[in-house]
Amino acid sequence: MDALTQYLEGNREQFLEDLKKVLRIPSVSTQPAHREDVRRCAQHVADDLKAIGMTRVEVVPTAGHPVLYAEWLGAPGKPTALLYGHYDVQPPEPLELWTTPPFEPTLRDGKLYARGACDDKGQVYMHLSALKAHMKVNGRLPLNLKVVIEGEEEAGSDNLEKFLRERRRELDADVIVVSDTSMLAADQPALCYGLRGILYTQIEVTGPAHDLHSGEFGGAVMNPANALAVIIAALRDGDGRVTVPGMYDRVRALTPKEREGYRGLPFDEAAFIRETGAPVAFGEKGYTTLERIWARPTCDVNGMWSGYIGEGSKTVLPSFAAAKVSMRLVPDQDFTELFPRFEAYVKKLAPPGVTVVVKNLHGAPPFLTEPDHPMLQAAVRALARSWQKPPALIREGGSIPVMATFKETHNLPCILLGFGLVDDNVHAPNEKFSLTSFHGGTRSVAYLYEELAKGA
Ligand code: BES
Ligand code: ZN
Repeated sequence: MDALTQYLEGNREQFLEDLKKVLRIPSVSTQPAHREDVRRCAQHVADDLKAIGMTRVEVVPTAGHPVLYAEWLGAPGKPTALLYGHYDVQPPEPLELWTTPPFEPTLRDGKLYARGACDDKGQVYMHLSALKAHMKVNGRLPLNLKVVIEGEEEAGSDNLEKFLRERRRELDADVIVVSDTSMLAADQPALCYGLRGILYTQIEVTGPAHDLHSGEFGGAVMNPANALAVIIAALRDGDGRVTVPGMYDRVRALTPKEREGYRGLPFDEAAFIRETGAPVAFGEKGYTTLERIWARPTCDVNGMWSGYIGEGSKTVLPSFAAAKVSMRLVPDQDFTELFPRFEAYVKKLAPPGVTVVVKNLHGAPPFLTEPDHPMLQAAVRALARSWQKPPALIREGGSIPVMATFKETHNLPCILLGFGLVDDNVHAPNEKFSLTSFHGGTRSVAYLYEELAKGA
């Protein structure tokens, strides 16, 4: 065993303790009450980067949450990698569904449970652990490294673009490295070359000026909750296709080669659906589950509220109803072009007797990179070394808003190597990260830096 691998094996406990510390900070970027926690988390990660030996560690304020920057440029003549990750997390609610509290990391059955364990603190700390190992074993990194870790990914990365544009030259590199995606199975590493984009909206329906007795007024005015149901029901047809006019105009069709490639992947569809707990798979007619998730758009209600939802009954016509509706987008859809069409369509669907407002909460473009780029071969070698089998080449259905921005600002090859598993419960109660992923991922990225240093 080489010295690097030996160090990684010998320090697993320490790496895990370091991860637990950052998981205890509730850095929920979308909830204003956690603003100070988010800032504290940024400082904590910055201190860890400093302790590893990274130089020029900065906590950079933005109009929202701070961005972290760090670098180590002590390998002249070697390539430069730009590592991106996020230290913010999704809200932990509903709290009562967690077996152990979201911000008290707990180990059970070889898995670490906490909000952010997988998405993305666990994956960021794989990199920090790997960098620490390189520094301890060799006193240096095998290549030059710039690190950007942001605190607004889960809120749409609103203020990161400005940072990237302002520092465009300083952030120049040869390759971008991101660990915020998944494996295909616990023993099957994956390299991701595509992500979906998103358009996130809120539909607000107002009827009467205040709630009304449903006997005294029921039948006399339009109920906004009923009106919202009419709108939502019409957003998709019976075949699972989105009915928004123009929705599919720019959707790039899957090539026969892509479809064949996806069919050949070691993906257990039945197990995947079983994991969700849903009785059967459902999605757009004519496509497989992987095709639906990776390469087809969706329209989904994320939440809706109206009227009385407490215990027992209350006979009332609500004056207001609302829903959060998001659309996952695929190449070459454009969320800025889509929003006005969605807004007009929703208003047209609304029955008379209500006022409808459609808000654009945030959007991110889809992302597709060149899977055959020579830089990606370094990742293929690193993953094969670490897992004794070559990675599967995959796309994923989630979004990482900054990837499209990087394309515009830096246009570099992107290596997305992530270690999440299908049952990690990201964004849900009982989020976890398997120790096999955490330690295997740490080993993989430690090797990745070595392989990248060899050049494309
Ligand atoms: N790590 C995810 C992105 C992801 C999820 C990639 C699943 C691959 C598979 C990331 O942190 C995330 O959740 N992003 C948000 C972005 C949104 C708020 C703009 C998402 O996809 O919902
Ligand atoms: Zn996430």
